Order: sequence, then C-alpha cells, then structure tokens
Amino acid sequence: MVTILAIESSCDDTSASVIRDGGVLSNCVAAQDVHRLYGGVVPEVASRAHQVNIVPVVQLALSKAGVDKSEITAVAFTRGPGLLGSLIVGASFAKAFALGRHLPLLAVDHLRAHVLAHFAEPPHPEFPFLCLTVSGGHTQIVTVRDFDQIEIIGETLDDAAGEAFDKAGKMFGLGYPAGPEIDRLAAEGLPKFPFPEASTEGLSFSFSGLKTAVLYFLREKTNENPDFIKENLPDLCASVQQAIVSILLKKLRKAARQTGIRNIAIAGGVSANSALRKGLAELGQREQWKTFIPKFEYCTDNAAMIGIAAYYQFLKGETVGQDIMPYPSGSTNQL
Ligand code: KG4
Ligand code: ZN
Repeated sequence: MVTILAIESSCDDTSASVIRDGGVLSNCVAAQDVHRLYGGVVPEVASRAHQVNIVPVVQLALSKAGVDKSEITAVAFTRGPGLLGSLIVGASFAKAFALGRHLPLLAVDHLRAHVLAHFAEPPHPEFPFLCLTVSGGHTQIVTVRDFDQIEIIGETLDDAAGEAFDKAGKMFGLGYPAGPEIDRLAAEGLPKFPFPEASTEGLSFSFSGLKTAVLYFLREKTNENPDFIKENLPDLCASVQQAIVSILLKKLRKAARQTGIRNIAIAGGVSANSALRKGLAELGQREQWKTFIPKFEYCTDNAAMIGIAAYYQFLKGETVGQDIMPYPSGSTNQL
C-alpha cells in the first residue's frame, strides 16, 4: 500500500491531500482571501499566509483521510513553477516531514499535476490525449502519451487566459479574481462588443492585445458616457468571455487536427468557465472528440493533483534528495 501526503503551495492556496494507491482520501484547501484587499496576489503576503496555514491544513487532511502520520509512506510537494517564497514554505514542510519520519520525498511539477488531475477520479482519459491547461498563471496545450510523457505543443506568449479574465474584470471594476464573476455576469449579457482575437502563429496564444483593446475601448466609451461600464456590464463580460473562449477553442481544434488526437481534456481554474465547458462540449460533438473535464475541486489549485502525479513518480522510483530546490518558473517543453 502506498500512502502519500501531498502539499501544494505554489500560489495563494495552501493545500494538503492524502492519496492511497492512486485514489484520493482527502483534499483540503485553505484559500487566502487576504489578497482580495489588493486586487491580486501579493507574493510576500502569500508566503506568510502559507506559513500560518500549512500545519492546520495538513492536520485536517490527515484527519479527514482517517490516516495517522505513521501510515504515510512518502511525502510530495510542488517544486514549481510558482511564487518562490510560497514554494519554499511547502518544500520546507515536506522536507522536514520526510526527514523526521525517514520517508522518501517526491518533487512534482505543478503543470504536470494539473494534467494528471484527470486521474484523481474516473472517467480517466485514455492515452494519448491532449490537455488544455488554463489557469491564472498558465495557458498551454500538451500531448499526454503516458504518465511521464507530457510534451508542451502550444503556450501563451504573454498573459495567461485566467489573467486575461482577471485584468479585464479589474478594468470593469470587479474584485479579484474576476473570472468567476465575469462568468456569472456574462450569462445575463450578449457578446455585442467585438473585441479582437490575436492572430498568433501555430499553437501559441496571446492575450495582451485583448487587454489593450478593452482598455482603449473603455477609455473612449467612458469619455462619451461616464456610466458606460455600469450600464453595459453584462454585455462587456459576455464579449470578453467570448473572445477568450473563442481563442482557446480554435487553438485546441487546431492541435487536435494537427496531432490526430481525439481524446481532449481541459484543466486549471479557467476550465470552470461555463462558456468554455459549453463550447468544448459543442465542438467536441462536431469534431467527434471524447472530452474530459475534472471535477471543480481538481480544476483549481489543489494538493490531490500533486499526490496523483507523485504516485506515478513513486511507482517509477523517482524520489529526490533533501538538497532539492524549488523552481519559480518552468524551463523545458517536457513536463
Ligand atoms: O488554477 P487556478 O485556481 O490557479 C492558478 O494556478 O492560477 O486558476 C485561477 C484562475 C483565476 O484567474 C480565475 O479568475 C480563473 O482561474 N477562474 C475563472 C473561473 N473560475 C476561476 N475564469 C473564468 N471563469 C470561471 N468560472
Ligand atoms: Zn495552477
């Protein structure tokens, strides 16, 4: 029996999970609401909040799983990419736990974990599959041929899709993170403002042009009518959402046609977006895809996905030493 204690602390959520033989026993997340005050994640504040949260979150994950710490066989943590200070808190905790109990240590790539979150619960996608990972920090398409054969075939050149939602929302006067609120408001509006979709080469994405277009559009309109945003909020949200979702789905279709892969998955916080889910279902039907969207708790940052990825690393004997260092940004096209 393999029982893994997994820690995720790459951004603003402190999470711990217990995974037994590849199945999730518990998955606890302490969200850091303090960042709402600042309209975005403040790295130093995040590190300090992780320090406060980590012990209680691990205790909760163990007790929810009904597992004593003496039953843990390995400890996993997010190595990166993410905020360095935040990563250090999770890595240090995991190292100390492993050292104190003489346990093997597993270092997991955060983006690889988002992809392997699809194995937290059935139905599992069959290999090979494509995964579009869309979060506040990342936008990429990968081919997944096996648990340890994940290759990036398309990435954003600038902002991430979640960042595009959050930055547009900020201009609309919405709180942080704005993605869920844009989703909710868009349901009451129409995508009547034609925001441009960047034409990037191949399978790469770009969202910074959209941000600038929204800024100039709002500047012009609010000069004419200071209440323009208030009077048009649902339509503005629907328009921005449509532009972002349309870019994502077009690139996904291109990737599927290029690779001939028809098992298509999405992951990351933005995969909670209702227009993306609906658009994926419709496109999937037209293109005869088998589509996979994980349960919401496995879409956003969580330690269960770290534990699942770690489990498959453990089976291959891929443990690391105490000298392992976190990395703040990704560096290869192999996850
Ligand atoms: O994966 P995640 O929880 O954290 C990161 O690794 O970034 O993703 C958070 C991002 C935020 O940008 C948030 O605005 C976005 O996911 N998001 C959404 C929705 N729910 C979360 N964006 C659009 N529609 C949603 N329903
Ligand atoms: Zn993430």
